[in-house]
Amino acid sequence: MSAVAALQVERLVVRMGGQQILSEVSLTVPEGGVVTVLGANGVGKTTLMRTLSGIYRASSGSIALAGEAIAGQPSHRIVAKGLAQAPEGRQVFSNMTVRENLVLGAGALAGREFERTFDDVLLRFPLLRERLAQQAGSLSGGEQQMLCIGRALMSRPRLLLLDEPSLGLAPKIVKQIFDLIASIRAGGTAILLVEQNVRAALKVADYGYVMEGGRIALEGPAAQLREDPRVRDAYLGGAGH
Ligand SMILES: Nc1ncnc2c1ncn2[C@@H]1O[C@H](COP(=O)(O)OP(=O)(O)O)[C@@H](O)[C@H]1O
Ligand SMILES: [Mg+2]
Repeated sequence: MSAVAALQVERLVVRMGGQQILSEVSLTVPEGGVVTVLGANGVGKTTLMRTLSGIYRASSGSIALAGEAIAGQPSHRIVAKGLAQAPEGRQVFSNMTVRENLVLGAGALAGREFERTFDDVLLRFPLLRERLAQQAGSLSGGEQQMLCIGRALMSRPRLLLLDEPSLGLAPKIVKQIFDLIASIRAGGTAILLVEQNVRAALKVADYGYVMEGGRIALEGPAAQLREDPRVRDAYLGGAGH
């Protein structure tokens, strides 16, 4: 018997404003695995993430979270079933405190389970603990990204979606983000990662998909994609780099 995947997407189609943005996208994230989705600006990566988390509606195709169909369900129910997203552009609530942002991520979690999760998340982000009473908008870009990921972890997800978590951050912070991804994975959470930093993404991921024009153009184990001339030329600055 083969294990049920954390996420199984089959032939997903999304249309918006009369345009087909995603065309028959199929992908799998195994339980506890890290899978990356790569591709140039505008190919549909964020649309894919938003459709998985219930913000956009699929025109056709299926989405299964741990074997259960979730397409068409409202976002809060999808979060409750174990899928959380740290969206592109971070999108923390700037006028709310760090604590309030984290509480919002907890969704339906309450009581002892909430307290335990809150402690777990703050253990991962000691810096956020020091800033709990501070407005989220006063944090640096890197700190806001940590808060955004911390907020997603507050729902104890089985699958975490990360949309461009390292975008626009200093190299030192980028390294912290990738270390964090590895450590979240070590805790048993599966991750679907969209990244501009293709080199780092293919290092942390087990498997990758390359999107072009709303379709999956190429896929394979991360180690294989790193050596693929099409990936090297388009995303890794050519051979020898
Ligand atoms: N809400 C929307 N309505 C109409 N078109 C959209 C919307 N969001 C994104 N698009 C279009 O969908 C395509 C894919 O965008 P996006 O998913 O943001 O790509 P990526 O994340 O890969 O840069 C782009 O052509 C973009 O203009
Ligand atoms: Mg995007």
